[in-house]
Amino acid sequence: MGQFTRPMKMQWAITRQSAGPSVAAHNQMAAASAPMLRNAQRCSLSTINVKDKLSSRYLFREAAIINGKDFPSAAHFPVYDPATEAQIGVCPDLTPRQVDEAIAAASNAFSSFRRTTPFERAKLLREWRDLVMESQEDLATMITLENGKPIDEAKGEVAYAASFMDWFAGEAPRAYGDVIAPSVGANRAITIKQPIGVCAIITPWNFPAAMITRKVSAAIAAGCTVVIKPDSETPYTAIALAKLAKIAGIPDGVVNVVTTKSYLKEVGEKLCTDERIKKVSFTGSTNVGRLLMAQSSSTLKKLSLELGGNAPFIVFPDTPVADAVAAAVTSKFRGSGQTCVCANRLFVHESIYDEFCELLTETVSGFKIGNGLEEGVTHGPLIHDRAVNKVEAHVEDAVKRGGKVLVGGNRAMEVGKYFFHPTVIRDAKPGIRIMKEETFGPIAAVFKFSSEEEVVALANDVEVGLASYLLTKDINRVFRVAEQLEYGMVGVNTGIVSDCATPFGGVKFSGFGREGSKYGIEEYMTIKSITFGGVGAPY
Ligand code: SIN
Repeated sequence: MGQFTRPMKMQWAITRQSAGPSVAAHNQMAAASAPMLRNAQRCSLSTINVKDKLSSRYLFREAAIINGKDFPSAAHFPVYDPATEAQIGVCPDLTPRQVDEAIAAASNAFSSFRRTTPFERAKLLREWRDLVMESQEDLATMITLENGKPIDEAKGEVAYAASFMDWFAGEAPRAYGDVIAPSVGANRAITIKQPIGVCAIITPWNFPAAMITRKVSAAIAAGCTVVIKPDSETPYTAIALAKLAKIAGIPDGVVNVVTTKSYLKEVGEKLCTDERIKKVSFTGSTNVGRLLMAQSSSTLKKLSLELGGNAPFIVFPDTPVADAVAAAVTSKFRGSGQTCVCANRLFVHESIYDEFCELLTETVSGFKIGNGLEEGVTHGPLIHDRAVNKVEAHVEDAVKRGGKVLVGGNRAMEVGKYFFHPTVIRDAKPGIRIMKEETFGPIAAVFKFSSEEEVVALANDVEVGLASYLLTKDINRVFRVAEQLEYGMVGVNTGIVSDCATPFGGVKFSGFGREGSKYGIEEYMTIKSITFGGVGAPY
């Protein structure tokens, strides 16, 4: 087992201490290169000292991680806190040539990591999971700073992220093959599953921890190595996770993190066209997914694409209104509406429509928006100005076409530039933009329906198919409707479908591939069949 054994507490302590100087050295370099900042689209008057907010200061690193080490770069891009607009740090603005070094490291590491046993990999994943949970507060603080979600929600995300490590630690030894009776009578055949190779992991800003661990834990369980490219809005959580992976004893080169902003397109292309990379797993928009798929075609990579959604949330008349509103709030306003599985269109039966709108408005009026690190804040900012512009445009469009704003409806400039008041719109009409486009923001547009047939048709009348929700006490209706919904996931009487144990993924333009669950590890493996000629008695 050698290098793959759990590091003893003593080794861990040494690693923790020795993290200090390298961060300091890096910071000196970062300060020296400050004039070289590229691509600063917004500029900030203030800065935040992130380390002062952490109990393990070494977790905040303004560096890429390649082959287990901080990777220096002369050019950097700034990262901002969307709640305060203060600069929280800088990150290396890597070029495709620098990213090549990460691919080389992952490729070298793969030749030995692929030979570890599933039990060794499970042990490493559990070790990593324990460190992540020990660092829950610190990781949550970083998530809140770079993403804006309230600290309790960020802590929840860390636990959700860790659940994938646990889950895939369990799955690693269970990647069974088959025994097959071939058509030639005396032959026998078996299948084995093998790691696919180096994987590119491209993740969004809305779950800076969980979108990484959902992919990387499965990849590691399978015996793959990874090059992670986190979103440039939220790189620090990814870097901290890679640091914890090293401390957990995951060998150098297995988990690499590359950061870039100016070379986004070129780095994406590099990851999709480099022959050493065998698989790309991406969570993000449908348009970018299409581009990555086209770029990956020259090297025929395996792909998992978890793309946009436009979730219908259907409330049938036999649902208690208080239950329906509670589920709607969880589904719609998690992360201020910035998740791919957030309800985007709320369809409520005409018989309970007024009551539902009233209670939803009352509940949303009780939200407190603000800096997620502050006590009592329930909802944070949106990620950037493009997000706020889109939300504003969707509200204007809904109102122009007859929708009535019951609460919210406008920017919350008094709180901060990227804040939008959580909004409820009643009398939303099927022709509005929200009907066809994912808002990705805190707008609950409530549509009225009268029949099951009508609402199923409306729910399916979109190009995407990620999550959907239906609320009813009628078991026959549950099966009838759930089976008709053209979605990869259906939540019944719940506003949350996300769970490490259940398959996450979509159909139609929401992409393909499944994450989490017993299927998640398959995405990182290939099946090999081995046929034994003339070994058995003919049947
Ligand atoms: C996403 O928004 O892509 C993921 C949401 C989740 O895992 O719940």
